Amino acid sequence: MNILAIETSCDETAAAVVTLSTSGWVEVVSHVVASSEALHTQTGGIVPEVAAREQLGAITPTINKTINQAELTWAEIDAIAVTQGPGLIGSLLVGVETAKTVALALDKPLLPINHLIGHIYANWLESDDQPSTPPDFPTLALIVSGGHTELILLNGYRDYELIGGTRDDAAGECFDKCARALGLPYPGGPNIARLANELDSSVKSPLEPLPRPLLHDDTFDVSFSGLKAAFVRQVERLKGQERLDLEYQRHLAADLQQAIVDSLQKKVSQAIEAYQPKAFLLAGGVAANRFLRHQLESTCQELSVPFYKPEQKYCVDNAAMIGAAALFVGQQVPPLQVSANPSLAL
Ligand code: KG4
Ligand code: ZN
Repeated sequence: MNILAIETSCDETAAAVVTLSTSGWVEVVSHVVASSEALHTQTGGIVPEVAAREQLGAITPTINKTINQAELTWAEIDAIAVTQGPGLIGSLLVGVETAKTVALALDKPLLPINHLIGHIYANWLESDDQPSTPPDFPTLALIVSGGHTELILLNGYRDYELIGGTRDDAAGECFDKCARALGLPYPGGPNIARLANELDSSVKSPLEPLPRPLLHDDTFDVSFSGLKAAFVRQVERLKGQERLDLEYQRHLAADLQQAIVDSLQKKVSQAIEAYQPKAFLLAGGVAANRFLRHQLESTCQELSVPFYKPEQKYCVDNAAMIGAAALFVGQQVPPLQVSANPSLAL
């Protein structure tokens, strides 16, 4: 079963062909991502209309390139999967309307997919770095992206329970906005991580510690807006004192990364103890962060829970994860009944 998947929920235009291998893992036959990141770097963030306009131009070449790279004919594609939401309406429309047109014109089944479920199923994509077999249920998943921070318990392929999440900003949003305060380009997460990594970790931070809201409460919720505000205050203070040199920027970046990771690590560990899952999955763009991956892997080792993480290229938005989700939970819907839904719930 070859699935052509399309993902355009945010600023990327992505397509992939995936198939289920006998091992239970999903094989990525081809995958292409056209990013408009360079444009958003200029504006310091995503401008929705700019993103959608770029996607309109990129969608057909991206799909054609994916089919060519897969060395398949259209006749060999068995179904079309597409991200239905949540995301930016203009961006979603480009993918959804294209997928509907392809499905109708070629008479293929259309499988609409929730973007967040896609991030989770990135953990079923074949990779040398994963444990030997795909995750078992119940599974605990942490989705950390630019728009979402959610802890989800999966009792089966289609059985999701939201057990916690952010009360305000998403972890990626916190990285992005703090990076912006430091004058770093969008997306901020990788730039903060790079600065933090330049620091010798044995050097103690000279800065006031950043807050970790909700760290000691017994819910599985996190909060990042107070952390963001404290970070921006520190930046302003150092600027005012003319002390914001590269060394201080590195300390700020490392302290921020540490505060975000501490909050996530604590809640994951609390949730593993409460629910005793058979696997833990990390997902979403922030899951590309090496320090977060390392710390959560240690937590899982301590608690004897198998740890899963997608390859970094499948953590950030891509279409292979949408295809993987379609293979396990895709449900055919008549194309004319499918519409983009920017606030699609889990
Ligand atoms: O999943 P994604 O590509 O898009 C959304 O669905 O939001 O996630 C994008 C987010 C951005 O906030 C970006 O700064 C963050 O993921 N990100 C990272 C890293 N790579 C991407 N955050 C921290 N460290 C990274 N290495
Ligand atoms: Zn995403």
